[in-house]
Amino acid sequence: MAPLLEVRNLTVAFDTPSGTVHAVNDVSYSLEEGETLGIVGESGSGKSVHALSMVGLIASPPGRIVRGEVIFNGRNLLALSPRELFDLRGKEIGFVFQDPMTSLNPVLTIERQIAEPLRRHFGMSAGQARARVVELLELVGIPDAARRARQYPHEFSGGMRQRVMIAIGISCNPKLLIADEATTALDVTVQAQILDLVRDLKRKIGTTVIWITHDMGVVAGLADTVQVMYGGRIMERGPVRSVFRDPRSAYTWGLLKSLPHGGKRGVNRLYQIPGNPPDLTQEPVGDPFAPRNPFATERCLIETPPLLDAADSVPGHKIAAWYDLRAELARMEGRP
Ligand SMILES: Nc1ncnc2c1ncn2[C@@H]1O[C@H](COP(=O)(O)OP(=O)(O)OP(=O)(O)O)[C@@H](O)[C@H]1O
Ligand SMILES: [Mg+2]
Repeated sequence: MAPLLEVRNLTVAFDTPSGTVHAVNDVSYSLEEGETLGIVGESGSGKSVHALSMVGLIASPPGRIVRGEVIFNGRNLLALSPRELFDLRGKEIGFVFQDPMTSLNPVLTIERQIAEPLRRHFGMSAGQARARVVELLELVGIPDAARRARQYPHEFSGGMRQRVMIAIGISCNPKLLIADEATTALDVTVQAQILDLVRDLKRKIGTTVIWITHDMGVVAGLADTVQVMYGGRIMERGPVRSVFRDPRSAYTWGLLKSLPHGGKRGVNRLYQIPGNPPDLTQEPVGDPFAPRNPFATERCLIETPPLLDAADSVPGHKIAAWYDLRAELARMEGRP
């Protein structure tokens, strides 16, 4: 079966007064129906821009899709008209953002805001939409849904508002749900509840999910596949277990090392990846992580490594690296 989503060589730039920002560089991957993909990487690595550009949500100018194709359900989204993209968003692809710009409108009731896409995309009557709103609020675990639907966003807690955002994201039964830092602002307990909710929804309605986050723990708990981005590129990608247990990219290794580990000997000191994030106004040359990578070779500085299957690993575990992290780590630890 063809994948639900196939991103091919997606390259996105911003033309700014201080130069061209190479935000997303030659990103290619595919996503199977029902799969949950977690995307991680430090701030500015291109996670949001890559997702927004797929569905025509970056402002142009300054944004510019330099090249690439995004095949979703058999259609190239980058070739669709603004009208077609407008029809697709919210209906076939649902979004949950943390961004206040796209969050709830303070002067409209929750019901109005959830009903809007239902009426727009499905032409539901007011009565039909109202019934569906209550059903959705119940689905995302909001008690007393019929009464709550008539309230305004300020009458909801942060966690409840995020549930409403998820209700809007899934209201039209999208084939794909893209969540961008959807739980980042929430406290740990509420975050855990929202993640339970997403797992539950996946069981019930089988949505394919792209979950963008800074939090490796969230990815470990939610995703089937993890994709690590740096400098607008995919550095590593594969089944979560395999990537977490046996990272093959020095950047992933650094990210995992910087996680605090609780253990018998207490909490380890947080490891920081030395150096600075890449200057994206420079023409991308070589491996973007090379300047910060203690294992980088001469080649890493001049030639961009393609994303290829990692040798001796599980199927689907891919890395973009010229160096051999396993061998380097073994040498560091004095193993043969
Ligand atoms: N409108 C814009 N104009 C210029 N540059 C932009 C614009 N939007 C994004 N960028 C740049 O594109 C790069 C990628 O940004 P993006 O928002 O995708 O990062 P991210 O991985 O989502 O980071 P975060 O984790 O902070 O959300 C950054 O260098 C950012 O500054
Ligand atoms: Mg972002």
